[in-house]
Amino acid sequence: MRAHEAGALHGDLGTREPAWLRTPDDVNALVPQLWSRTVTRADTGDLTVGGVSVRTLAAEHGTPAYVLDEDDLRARCRDFAAAFAGADVYYAGKSFLCKAVVKIIHEEGLFLDVCTGGELAVALAAGFPAERMGFHGNNKSMAELSRAVEAGVGRIIVDSLDEIDRLTSLANETGKRPSVLLRVTVGVEAHTHEFIATAHEDQKFGFSLAGGAAFVAAAKIIDEGVLDLKGLHSHIGSQIFDTSGFEVAARRVLELQAQIRDARGIELPELDLGGGFGIAYTTQDDPSTPGDLAKRINKIVDSECELADLRVPRLSIEPGRAIVGPSVFTLYEVGTVKDVDGIRTYVSVDGGMSDNIRTALYDASYSATVAGRRSSAEPLLARVVGKHCESGDIVVKDEFLPADVQPGDLLAVPGTGAYCRSMASNYNHVPRPPVVAVRDGASRVIVRRETEEDLLTLDVG
Ligand code: LLP
Repeated sequence: MRAHEAGALHGDLGTREPAWLRTPDDVNALVPQLWSRTVTRADTGDLTVGGVSVRTLAAEHGTPAYVLDEDDLRARCRDFAAAFAGADVYYAGKSFLCKAVVKIIHEEGLFLDVCTGGELAVALAAGFPAERMGFHGNNKSMAELSRAVEAGVGRIIVDSLDEIDRLTSLANETGKRPSVLLRVTVGVEAHTHEFIATAHEDQKFGFSLAGGAAFVAAAKIIDEGVLDLKGLHSHIGSQIFDTSGFEVAARRVLELQAQIRDARGIELPELDLGGGFGIAYTTQDDPSTPGDLAKRINKIVDSECELADLRVPRLSIEPGRAIVGPSVFTLYEVGTVKDVDGIRTYVSVDGGMSDNIRTALYDASYSATVAGRRSSAEPLLARVVGKHCESGDIVVKDEFLPADVQPGDLLAVPGTGAYCRSMASNYNHVPRPPVVAVRDGASRVIVRRETEEDLLTLDVG
């Protein structure tokens, strides 16, 4: 008995269909906002991306695999660059970084935000111009800072007094004058999961505005004169839909800007409002277009500058998820289908929390579809789980799949471009999947699949 047939999802065991999830009219239909631009379901029933069938991709590259729709990624870069013309768009590499993506970002005219020595190394290895990079992080080591200064990174976003001291001594040693932005904590409670909100007072990032630390740090940099303070920076969190948080952040940061002008006679020329723009993971999410975001953010900055009688600084933003997130889906193969009577049906795939930790970590919601064929079976409310030794190893909490879903089926989970491969692990010694870029009818591996040999390479015992 399938769990949904018994109506048991509403039963005593307390598990039930989430209110927002509606039984689909057609389990084969693709909700456009969840899929990258070139994904369609072919007449043969299988999904195609960039003109290549998922069955071909699975045969050539195996599963699980992250499948990147290159045209979609390029189009998203261009959309942001065009919408924010007159501002600088820094792609946040933490969402997903590899040499091929660095090159695409560069070709499409974006800047790049890195936040560790490792990300910096990938960007430099791909030939990204250092002067178009921003370097983030709340605990940059002397070695990382030194490498960034030596490479000529365009701006370093300073996050602590210790870092200011480190950079100052590096500047004195090298005779260089690094450009810096000051990361400010604006005290905004962003409407997102608490682990990915970053501008409330009680967290590790930035200098507090309310407590006065931000002004003290700005004054220190200006008074010492060793570093070139270009502007202020605020990032309020991630997966945010409501622009009111950016409005409050801009207002508060610009108040500090005015305070600095009044105290030191300097109008800082730049302002970075960070990233965090939400994307659609389920039909419930309704993200803004880059055009809408740009309009609202520019309006906020213009009006706050007018109020504070400030010249409008050069704006920058740092989207990661909104650029790469929707361009990727993860392609899995179903291994087992288990009906737990009266509770739900578990569909196990050949990956899991090692390739997508977001469901377990942030209670994130995803959707899924059987990708290798069309089905005429009834919808079945299922839970997609991985192969790891944890009951929390969930990929998709609730999704309607065709009731004839079976071992061997290909399953695609959209929206996995951001913070999935970049947060992937080897838990249970499961090798990490490859990233396969698809475009114009051809696929190429841009990050190869990890092998058991790779896993053993580090194990020198
Ligand atoms: N700028 C700064 C300073 C950031 O810390 C971040 C993300 C971004 C930009 C890019 O944010 P995005 O546009 O991608 O939302 N692992 C979490 C997200 C952590 C975000 C960390 N910082 C997740 O999977 O939801």
